[in-house]
Amino acid sequence: SAAPLVDRLDRPLTDLRVSVTDRCNFRCRYCMPRELFGAEHVFLDREELLSLEEITRLLTLFRELGVRKIRLTGGEPLLRRGLPSLVAMLPDFDDLAMTTNGVLLPRLAGPLADAGLRRVTVSLDALDDEVFRRIADTPLSVSSVLDGIRAAREAGLGVKVNTVLQRGINDHQLEDLAGWAREAGVRLRFIEYMDVGTTNGWVRDRVVPAEEVRDRLHARWPLEPVEPEVYGEVASRYRYLDGAGEVGIIASVTKPFCRTCTRARLSSVGELYTCLFAARGTDLRALLRGGADDEALLAAIGAVWGRRTDRASELRGEGGLTGPRVEMSYIGG
Ligand code: GTP
Ligand code: 5AD
Ligand code: SF4
Ligand code: SF4
Repeated sequence: SAAPLVDRLDRPLTDLRVSVTDRCNFRCRYCMPRELFGAEHVFLDREELLSLEEITRLLTLFRELGVRKIRLTGGEPLLRRGLPSLVAMLPDFDDLAMTTNGVLLPRLAGPLADAGLRRVTVSLDALDDEVFRRIADTPLSVSSVLDGIRAAREAGLGVKVNTVLQRGINDHQLEDLAGWAREAGVRLRFIEYMDVGTTNGWVRDRVVPAEEVRDRLHARWPLEPVEPEVYGEVASRYRYLDGAGEVGIIASVTKPFCRTCTRARLSSVGELYTCLFAARGTDLRALLRGGADDEALLAAIGAVWGRRTDRASELRGEGGLTGPRVEMSYIGG
C-alpha cells in the first residue's frame, strides 16, 4: 500500500478514537455538567450520526492509511444501538478497545466479546458511593460499575480502569482504588485532570501531579518503572515490587506526550479531529454522503493529517488552555 502517512512533526497516524454517540447515562461534573446537559439539551438526531455502515467504510479506509488501533468511545458507547453489530462488521485491527462507564456491561459484554471486541477500559473515579455519585451525578452506586467490570471479565474481555484524580474531590480515594485494583488484578491508571472542553471549570490547583501520585503509591507499596512497550504509549507504567501487578499514571498536564501523539479522533457525526483540544474537525460525512469514492476520501484524510501541527498540551500555560475547543462528551476523550 501507500507510504506511511506522517504529519508535519513526523508523527504517523496509527490510532483512531471513534465516538459513536454524544449521549451518556452519567453527568460527570467534569464532562457533562447537568446545567448544560439537562432535560433541555438537544442531542444529535439519529440521522445525523454516522450509520454503522458509514463508520465501517471510514474505518476500512483509515486502516489502509496505517491505523492499527481503534478505540470506541462516546459519550457512552454502550448507549449506541447495534454496537455489537458494528464490532462484527469492522475489519481486523491489531487492537480494538472501548472506553465505557461500565454500567451497561452486564447486558452487553457477552454480545460484544462474541462480536470480536477484545478489551474495555472502564472509568471509575471513586470506590466510595457518596464521592462517586457526586462526581458522576448519578443515583447509581459504585456496585453497578463493579458489576460491569465483573461481567466484562466473565465474558473474557481484558479490563483496564481509568481514574481521573481531582484534588479535594477524589484524591483521598487514591490508595483505596489502588488497593482494590491490586486485589482484583485489574490494571488501574490514574489520569491528571485536564482542561478538556470549556465547561468543566478547570483550575490547575485541582490537578494532582503524576509525581505526587507515584510518591504516594510508592510509600504504601514500593514500585519500579516498567519500560514502554509500544511507541506513543500515554501511561507511565510501574510494577509493584511485591508482585501485585502494574499501575499506570497518565501525566497529560505535567508531562505532555504530544511529541509521540499518533491519535486522530472521529466524532459521531463524522468529523475528523487531529487533537483532543482542537476547535473544529473536518467534515468527512459531507464527502461520504455526497458520494465521494474511496480515493477521494483517502486523499481528504491524508491531506488533513499531512497538515497537522497540533501539540496543545505542550503549549498549555499555567492558567490552562485558551480559545474554543471541542467538548469531551462530543469527542470521547
Ligand atoms: P490503552 O491502549 O489501553 O493503553 O489506552 P490509552 O493509553 O490510549 O488510554 P485511554 O484511551 O484509556 O486514555 C486514557 C486517558 O488518557 C484519556 O481519557 C485522556 O484523559 C488521556 N489521553 C488519551 N489520549 C490523549 C491524547 O491524545 N491527548 C491528551 N491530552 N490526553 C489523552
Ligand atoms: N481530564 C482527564 N480525563 C478526563 N476524562 C473525562 N474528562 C476528563 C478530564 N477533564 C476521562 C474520563 C474517561 C475518559 C473518556 O476520559 O474519565 O476515563
Ligand atoms: Fe459520561 Fe464518560 Fe463523560 Fe462521565 S466522563 S459524563 S461517563 S462520557
Ligand atoms: Fe495529541 Fe493534542 Fe493530546 Fe497533544 S494535546 S497528545 S497533540 S491529542
